[in-house]
Amino acid sequence: MREELGRVAGPHGEVALWRRTTEDGATVTELVVDGVFAMDDVETSTERALATEALARIDGAELAVLVGGLGLGWTTATVLATPGVAEVLVVELEDALIGWAVEGLLPGLRRVGDPRLELVAGDVAAAFSPDRFDAVLLDVDNGPDFLVHASNAGLYSPAGLARALGAVRPGGVLAVWSADPAPTLLHRLAALPGAVDAEQLVLPVEREGRVFEYALVLVRRSA
Ligand SMILES: C[S@@+](CC[C@H](N)C(=O)[O-])C[C@H]1O[C@@H](n2cnc3c(N)ncnc32)[C@H](O)[C@@H]1O
Repeated sequence: MREELGRVAGPHGEVALWRRTTEDGATVTELVVDGVFAMDDVETSTERALATEALARIDGAELAVLVGGLGLGWTTATVLATPGVAEVLVVELEDALIGWAVEGLLPGLRRVGDPRLELVAGDVAAAFSPDRFDAVLLDVDNGPDFLVHASNAGLYSPAGLARALGAVRPGGVLAVWSADPAPTLLHRLAALPGAVDAEQLVLPVEREGRVFEYALVLVRRSA
């Protein structure tokens, strides 16, 4: 059974949220952008790892975290559940997703009333204020080589990545989710001024009998 929870024609194409029941009775929420499957929550370990792996590399308390974008809310929920996090700014291109989160339609994110959480509609690149965050977590495309929106290309250019790392305070971490290992992104991040400890974690995930290799690319801003 597949039920449409919401559908909105936005400036970046149509966005739709679906809920379906699998053969074994599990409920799955699915996001479709411009008629193309964007993600579902059958397996969200890597979306959650984007938060846990980045935050595990940061010392300190009262952490401020930028998340772009919201998607189904798994990364954001994991950030909120991490001890020491004081402030979470989530920037999401699709207004509709923020509305659905507030309505409680995103099963991964039940704590939209959390006073530490701010949900803002827009382009995450506009939130790259210098030295503003302890962690910047980016999951806005299927990866630097598989863009959901062509307008995101600038984000992965050396200049775009430098702005993203510049938004990280010294000692903090920039982390990027990718649907494939991303060696070019790793090299670009490692080459940025002030970048240290660039690394890629390749995370195998099994879906419907197939193994996919998703990746997280992380870099620290020198202290
Ligand atoms: C794959 S989803 C994110 C999944 C999320 N990590 C989770 O745990 O559910 C990608 C999201 O990024 C949003 N997005 C795409 N480009 C963006 C941008 N430039 N700024 C902010 N959000 C963007 C999309 O609308 C989509 O909701």
